[in-house]
Amino acid sequence: MFRFLTAGESHGPCLTMIVEGLPAGLTVEKDIIDADLRRRQGGYGRGGRMKIEKDAISFLSGVRHGKTLGSPITLQIENRDWVNWEERMSAEPVEAEIEAVSRIRPGHADFTGAIKYGHKDVRNVIERSSSRETASRVAVGGLCRQFLGQFGISVHSHVLSVVEVGYEEERAMTPAAYPEEMWEAVEASPMRCADEALTEKMIARILEAKRTGDTCGGVFEVVAFGAPIGLGSYSQWDRRLSTRLGMAMMSIPSVKAMEIGAGFGATRATGSHVHDVLRHAEDGSWFHLTNNAGGIEGGITNGEPIVVRVGVKPIPTLAHPLPSVDLASGENIEQSRYERSDVCVVPAAGVVGEAMMNIVLTEALIEKFGGDSMEEMQKHFRA
Ligand SMILES: Cc1cc2nc3c(=O)[nH]c(=O)nc-3n(C[C@H](O)[C@H](O)[C@H](O)COP(=O)(O)O)c2cc1C
Repeated sequence: MFRFLTAGESHGPCLTMIVEGLPAGLTVEKDIIDADLRRRQGGYGRGGRMKIEKDAISFLSGVRHGKTLGSPITLQIENRDWVNWEERMSAEPVEAEIEAVSRIRPGHADFTGAIKYGHKDVRNVIERSSSRETASRVAVGGLCRQFLGQFGISVHSHVLSVVEVGYEEERAMTPAAYPEEMWEAVEASPMRCADEALTEKMIARILEAKRTGDTCGGVFEVVAFGAPIGLGSYSQWDRRLSTRLGMAMMSIPSVKAMEIGAGFGATRATGSHVHDVLRHAEDGSWFHLTNNAGGIEGGITNGEPIVVRVGVKPIPTLAHPLPSVDLASGENIEQSRYERSDVCVVPAAGVVGEAMMNIVLTEALIEKFGGDSMEEMQKHFRA
């Protein structure tokens, strides 16, 4: 069984991840994980924190001489900002009077977290509800990316829209719609969007929001290539790959919607226009003429690219803050609080979405072809 846990506060000393269930003998490179962490930190619209943090992992256990041991893998990311927070975030009691955060930011976990856990200082909520935690998932996803690569599976993401600015045409989802050069263009774009003109328009839209102290959401798409037929199952509700991808994508802070394949588009067409016709090729392989199912039928991969589109709300911390409540006084206030913040995180959220896809596919692949070593797993996979 593959599983992982993450721990760490946003301004604590570090983020820590424990990963269990990867087979022994997998070659893992720190640089590949660090590259993914850098991709999460990028994208037009990020704020000041990303300039401070230069995320990189250390392996603390489970890897020796570049290969997994089959024992739990511990990864750590240091928070460079910790030096500025040592007193405020000290695990030990401190002499100094630390000012409590009490003004609630609408759309954040500030209100729900403070009421749920009985915190008088909202700092105790923010520190863990912060999306800094998603760096941990990207690190685990970077390990999974290397594992999946050994089985010919690759995962990409790109941005489809920001607020109302996006692709006008519905996109086909067959492999031909995603040429290799497209992903190169995505990686070169500050919006992680292959279309240069659209990239410019998205940037202009973010600047416009920034000028008025506002924020932007949007939609990203994650695509997985090379997944074999048969991952996931219809046999129980929670074994469907669609269920698991839904949970994984919806777990990303600020994500409010997800579609698989044609998604809501399929509800606006009739069956004869939606279902993907299956074909058997002369070489014995299977393929579909279209991919409206987004690579999943009956909760099981069907051999086509797995395509999910994910909706991200505008981020909650506004430079021009909304009215709210002060938790300490109980008074309604005209302006909630502003803390250094991003304006648009859709490109970065897409990188987190890639990580979650890598994690879900790793779990499903191990479930189907599992083995204690890579050699054993490769044998099962080939068979
Ligand atoms: C990569 C990433 C970066 C984010 N950065 C910020 C930020 O700088 N400021 C902010 O208010 N929200 C940010 N968010 C969103 C909040 O973390 C999120 O909206 C909040 O925790 C409430 O959770 P919910 O939107 O899922 O309800 C970010 C989300 C992601 C995925």
